[in-house]
Amino acid sequence: LVEHVLRFQPHGKKATPRPGASLLELAIEAGVSIESVCGGTGKCGKCRVTVAHGSSFLSAIGEGERSLLGDVSDGSRLACMTRVLSCGDIVIHIPEESRRGHHRLLAAGEERKVKLKPALTKAVLALPEATLQDVRADEDRLMDALSDQKGLKARMANAVYPDLPKGLREQNWTVTATVYRDEEIIRIEPGDTADRLHAVAVDIGTTKVVAYLLDLNTGKVLDSESMPNPQIPYGEDVMSRITYSSREQGGLENLQSVILEGLNSLISSLCEGAGMEEADILEVLVVGNTAMHHLFFGIPAKHLATAPYAPVVRSSMTVNAEDLRVRAYPSAKVSALPNIAGFVGADAVSDLLASGLYRDSGFGMMIDIGTNTEIIAGNKDRLMSCSCASGPAFEGAHIRHGMRASSGAIERVWIDPSTRDVRYRTVDDSAARGICGSGIVDAVAEMFKAGIVDHAGKLRTDGSDARVRKAENGSAEFVLAEASESANGKDITVAQHDVEEIQLAKAAIFTGVSVLMGKFGVSGDEITTLYAAGAFGTYVDAGSAIAIGMYPDIPTPRIKFIGNAAGAGARMALKSVSMRSLAERLSKKVEYVELAAEPNFQKEFAKAMFLPHRDRERFPSAMRKE
Ligand code: FES
Repeated sequence: LVEHVLRFQPHGKKATPRPGASLLELAIEAGVSIESVCGGTGKCGKCRVTVAHGSSFLSAIGEGERSLLGDVSDGSRLACMTRVLSCGDIVIHIPEESRRGHHRLLAAGEERKVKLKPALTKAVLALPEATLQDVRADEDRLMDALSDQKGLKARMANAVYPDLPKGLREQNWTVTATVYRDEEIIRIEPGDTADRLHAVAVDIGTTKVVAYLLDLNTGKVLDSESMPNPQIPYGEDVMSRITYSSREQGGLENLQSVILEGLNSLISSLCEGAGMEEADILEVLVVGNTAMHHLFFGIPAKHLATAPYAPVVRSSMTVNAEDLRVRAYPSAKVSALPNIAGFVGADAVSDLLASGLYRDSGFGMMIDIGTNTEIIAGNKDRLMSCSCASGPAFEGAHIRHGMRASSGAIERVWIDPSTRDVRYRTVDDSAARGICGSGIVDAVAEMFKAGIVDHAGKLRTDGSDARVRKAENGSAEFVLAEASESANGKDITVAQHDVEEIQLAKAAIFTGVSVLMGKFGVSGDEITTLYAAGAFGTYVDAGSAIAIGMYPDIPTPRIKFIGNAAGAGARMALKSVSMRSLAERLSKKVEYVELAAEPNFQKEFAKAMFLPHRDRERFPSAMRKE
């Protein structure tokens, strides 16, 4: 008897195909989690999979399935609606957005493989003992050994001299020299410490700071820590922080010192968790947008805020930890990747490294959504970038019941267009406390598709939906979760104002997308890959992002979720000097487009305020589902 297998990729988990069973049921049996917001009733479209092999053993596609999926030429099916007809070998691919519970892991950012060759190396040297016949100075003795045994000619960092005599003699003239870029000795330790080589990669976002502890001998991430950007009390967005830094007495120093304190506390907890000393950190590599970069290094950011928005520094920077008061070995290096322009910084360069967009031969687009959204479009021949002030709405700010994506946040919403029944899912499946960014985008998309808000984003108050009511302030609101279901016993609503905030944010992003496509003379369907970066870009449902007109209308399989790509790129650069050279080249190659200077910017923005867009024909799939 031949034993047939149904394989789920990319997990590689297996099930036995059983006639009559749905792919969703078999996935559950195999321990594979697939999104199924509507509970497997064929209504939400979230359980999309592709059949890579064995479609003849499966039921034929139905009309309902086809209308939810749109283009099915790639073998797309709804897992809950597809049943096994007869036994045979079947391979099913589960795309990123259909994998339940996978999102949070991804937020760490996916690195591309790089060859491990960090800027830091450790050279273990056996020195000849000082004698009356050999009275060379300690420094000369070390330099000679480095040259003879490793072929390196380096200079000594001044901070190393006090440690030199003890370092040389304590372990019988065996020492380990840490060399930076083959040119500077930044640390001397007695004995052989080659197995300890640690560094920290840091992504300084406007809203969140994430630090990763790396073992540079293996390239492994040992741990990560994050915190809200401690500059937030001085201004929520980049502009207000720049204003504070330039207008207030001591403003720049204040902003620099709070971010340094924040970073130091992240380094301390990383080291504590790994049972290491802070002095074991030998490099800290930082990425951030240009304003975060300048403020971190104490460089005036004033000119970033006014035309022509010129940055002070574009190229990579390196300073000593002690000069910045960073908690690491005093002569450890604190470096930053290069910036592109005033509003497209080292974080976008880092995104480029992680996405690999610069190598693509088709037409790609990378969108890193944050309080400020960076977009880079193009391919191996030409790259253009722009920056959009999308604001913090996607982080849950300025949304009445908005919250961060923590326990109890509504993160997925589904509204049945015929019955208007609302279903939602919360983070950790706990009682609803509020709505996070992905939840509010889903909510607006679903409200639009169900006809609860119109093309202009207005809630329909004609009494057609019992969940739409007047709030205390007289404006309309939609009840998403009723008081009986919520954690605090109060209704959780989407207000008219919330819909407007989302319209503003998505219009800012789509205007950037649209301007860059215009520069290249390509249309949405020519985009071969859309790299969605940043935590929000990873959590947000691609279909909903298209439905509201934030992403261009492309088949969702072309959207690749790359998580916190800025952090991933920073880690790649820490691990590989050739990635740093590439970053330097890319920062010069990427052309910058100043959106505000574009003659049709205002017109494009006004059109993008509609759901999904004033030119509906640009969103054929979204309109089909309306
Ligand atoms: S679970 Fe398949 S369509 Fe909802």
